[in-house]
Amino acid sequence: MNEDAIPPDTLAKVQKHLERFHLSLEKLQEVSARLEEDMIRGLGKHTHHRAPVKMLPSFVRATPDGTEKGDFLALDLGGTNFRVLHVRVLEEEQKMLKMDSQICTIPQEIMLGTGEQLFSHIASCLGDFLECQNLKEQILPLGFTFSFPCEQKEIDKSFLIRWTKGFNCSGVEGKDVVKLLREAIHKRGDYDLGSVAMVNDTVGTMMSCGYKDQSCEIGMIIGTGTNACYMEEMKNVERVEGEEGRMCINTEWGGFGDDGSLKDIQTEFDVVVDKTSINPGVHIFEKMISGMYLGEIVRLLLVRLTQDELLFKGQTSEALLSAGRFETKFISDIEETDSGVENTQNILTELGLKWDQVDVHVVHLVCDTISSRSAHLCAAALATVANRIRVNRGLDHLKTTVGVDGTVYRKHPYFSKKLQATVRLLAPDCDITFLVSEDGSGKGAAMVTAVSQRLALQSRL
Ligand code: GLC
Repeated sequence: MNEDAIPPDTLAKVQKHLERFHLSLEKLQEVSARLEEDMIRGLGKHTHHRAPVKMLPSFVRATPDGTEKGDFLALDLGGTNFRVLHVRVLEEEQKMLKMDSQICTIPQEIMLGTGEQLFSHIASCLGDFLECQNLKEQILPLGFTFSFPCEQKEIDKSFLIRWTKGFNCSGVEGKDVVKLLREAIHKRGDYDLGSVAMVNDTVGTMMSCGYKDQSCEIGMIIGTGTNACYMEEMKNVERVEGEEGRMCINTEWGGFGDDGSLKDIQTEFDVVVDKTSINPGVHIFEKMISGMYLGEIVRLLLVRLTQDELLFKGQTSEALLSAGRFETKFISDIEETDSGVENTQNILTELGLKWDQVDVHVVHLVCDTISSRSAHLCAAALATVANRIRVNRGLDHLKTTVGVDGTVYRKHPYFSKKLQATVRLLAPDCDITFLVSEDGSGKGAAMVTAVSQRLALQSRL
């Protein structure tokens, strides 16, 4: 596909609508500098409570060293699916095996219902899984990947700060999620758990890659939501006692901009996406980047271009006018190298639109603009984190690995390339290897549990 297929006057008018989505390198550098300041505010004892980027201690103090072992259960809540897993970590072969797993659906009524309903549903899915696997009699340790911002007091004490993405269950914010899970299990009384480790998905992702590559010290997710974690020096983690060593910090960079600091790059379309979401004013940066919102930004732009008679001869359709009907997955399909044109035609027909060839090219241009902005903003954020690690360690040059996961990163045909190229420009002194995580939220959570058991054992010796 190329822009030459669009008549110059139409192209100029379309570009006018898109120009605010193009961010120059200087602008991205500015965004990165602002994020750096916010990260420092988030870490500070006296500035944390007002900081939009929360910088939450994870109580993960070490990455894997290869001596971990045992059988673990894992729960994964907060991504595309809710899953229950049984994972075995083999020391001799330095391998993690997913013995079995099960996807359970969480109906919309439960996602927006009460906390009690949610945790009793989780306990019942776990109970069914243990029954099927004949594991009900064993008391296994559990890694709980809970991909929401939590104030962690210990590895097994984790208070939900607020729901993000599509969840909004009453009576959970401010509560200890491990306690809610244990209570729901005790109410049933037919099985029990060993020790529990609470894990953000970014942390699981870092840890699952860390088993393969011990220089993996950053975890990043670009899926339904977006976020990253990294190993910070303990002396900078002011809210946790101790000066020695490092701790993994869950940045919650999705909240960047919640204090209005991104107003200069927020477009009117971003403002509508935020206002019509279930949590207006919350996670502004995430709403410009992640899979839950990209399709909606594109849809709003297509509606505007149609109203301005730059698409579909000015004729919208019921589907195009319905919130949520343009899925983020469509963006990947439309930008596909070989099948993009055909995919676009099928999608537009599905949406009840009468299109011509120029429309197909304009729609492609819109998708490319929105996914590119997402990749560029993520790159700015990742460059900030990598640079921070480099400066923390007093290095001129940092070589590090990032464990990555998430549907947008994995499924979009060019997203990862664009992100990586932009990071190289924004963090020229960092040499970053990108490792796509193999089930970070499942195996990674088991690994966090395994590492915390290893550390507990060592401290007892
Ligand atoms: C949201 C959550 C965060 C999670 C991210 C990716 O931003 O607040 O905890 O890591 O989504 O799933």
